[in-house]
Amino acid sequence: MLENSPVTEARQRAAALRCLIAPSILTADLGRLAEEIQLAEAAGADRIHLDIMDGQFVPNISFGWLIVEAVRAATSLPLDVHLMIVQPDRYVSDFVRAGANHLTVHQETCSHLDRQLAQIKELGATAGVALNPATSLTTIEDVIDDLDLLLIMSVNPGFGGQSFISHSLDKLRRARALFEAQGSKAELEVDGGINESTIASVVEAGATMCVTGSAVYNRHRSVADSVRALRAALDAPLVGPS
Ligand code: DX5
Ligand code: ZN
Repeated sequence: MLENSPVTEARQRAAALRCLIAPSILTADLGRLAEEIQLAEAAGADRIHLDIMDGQFVPNISFGWLIVEAVRAATSLPLDVHLMIVQPDRYVSDFVRAGANHLTVHQETCSHLDRQLAQIKELGATAGVALNPATSLTTIEDVIDDLDLLLIMSVNPGFGGQSFISHSLDKLRRARALFEAQGSKAELEVDGGINESTIASVVEAGATMCVTGSAVYNRHRSVADSVRALRAALDAPLVGPS
């Protein structure tokens, strides 16, 4: 029998890493939206991530619930809707009606986070909270039992294609430890700069769902090849930021 080398051990450890992959359509070709979504579904994507930006909370404007409706009609995959908007309480019902299954608001936009989470759940969606890179985990400690999902932003929100902020790994580890300490079964999602070089590290740090925008929708590779490359990166020895 072969003795375990450090490389073999690293491979085994990485092969044990499992996470959901949620392509973000922010960098997809919106002129071929249904086709782009179906390519991701055929490639084995687990959820579709939709980035809603209002030009106030973030400097960019993307799209609203009409696009969520169009995506809903194109796929049976769960829709993971990330609201980067001020006053989300005014709009959550529109997004649930449009087909959102998982709805995430930013902690920084909610004066009454507890009430906001309850509102989302009453509407029938799962409730998530996102934290910007500069926002402390302590801001959600008191609502952890009410969270279905915690989204750690690993870039400053607003644009696709940015570089991964490496101190997000430590935040993911601390979030995972917090979940374990409090017995939380919430999803731990990470968003921004996730690609073949970073995905294994974030999953090893505790992420259970990875948003992948430009690593899936880009001009260099097909959607199928891109998703395959991400899965392969999870089966390879760990490299990248630590
Ligand atoms: C950034 C968005 C992300 C973005 C990710 O504000 O929340 O979902 O689409 O894009 P990549 O994966 O290219 O960093
Ligand atoms: Zn997002």
